[in-house]
Amino acid sequence: MAQYVKPRAPFRMKKQVHLLLLATALLLAVQAAFLLGGTVRKASPTLPDGGPNALELLLKKQAAEKQEENDPKPEPAGPEAAEPAPSVQEEAAEPAPEPKPARIALTFDDGPSAYTSRLLDGLAEHGAKATFFVLGSRVSGREELLNRMAAEGHEIGNHSWSHPQFKNMSEGGISGEIVRTADAIEKACGKRPYLVRPPYGDVSAVVRRALGEPLILWSVDPRDWSLRNTDKVVDAVLSKVSDGDIVLLHDIYSTSVDAALAVLDRLAEEYDFVTVSQLFEEAGTPLAEGNRYSQAGPRTAAQE
Ligand code: NI
Repeated sequence: MAQYVKPRAPFRMKKQVHLLLLATALLLAVQAAFLLGGTVRKASPTLPDGGPNALELLLKKQAAEKQEENDPKPEPAGPEAAEPAPSVQEEAAEPAPEPKPARIALTFDDGPSAYTSRLLDGLAEHGAKATFFVLGSRVSGREELLNRMAAEGHEIGNHSWSHPQFKNMSEGGISGEIVRTADAIEKACGKRPYLVRPPYGDVSAVVRRALGEPLILWSVDPRDWSLRNTDKVVDAVLSKVSDGDIVLLHDIYSTSVDAALAVLDRLAEEYDFVTVSQLFEEAGTPLAEGNRYSQAGPRTAAQE
């Protein structure tokens, strides 16, 4: 259906002429009143106090306001212009979820394995992040898993190439295990790991001399590799865990993956599941080279 738009230009011109006359008359009248009695200031409550130009400013302002009021509104350009603009509320991004009372860093060593993708599914369902201390020897053929970890916001750490006892090795041998693994992880997923968890948690003097990276231990060890029982591992975690803890698990056991998923369910209300780096950043103690870490403590006041 064709739209008939009423021509408005002559009407507008007429109105503007009227307005000009009105403003001129007003100006003359007010100037006359000012000269006669100086009573304008009292009569007009909106007249600003101040210097000799106050009246002129007021008149200019009033004239400008009048003009603005009478300016024709732009005609709608088409049907889309008639649609209401989306409200600010609709356009705004979803608000960030409220921080939970406590945080926990789940860490998974010795993988990846055939169970890791199931673990990643469960972490994604809960919006949880974790840290994977990967063995370099297990990277080849599992590049997709590493890519998925990185893409989904998990942290990838270095757990050596072949899980040797560092105490029997030279500094060069120790750093060689770590560098080779870092190269493999970086080649697989484009991200070079920063954090190191030495096999068996060995942070002896020779290991510290050999490695410059932050060394990450743990504060909750449910001994999942020994228990191999989901319920017992869950109980062991729940009985010990508190704000700022690092939990040691292994994603090479199906029972450990089941236990981790059960822990996610049980602690979802109370805990944010974060990476090791996030855990320490939020505690106000960002990880530093050459230091050892096993527990972060609560969030600092500045983070809350
Ligand atoms: Ni290990």
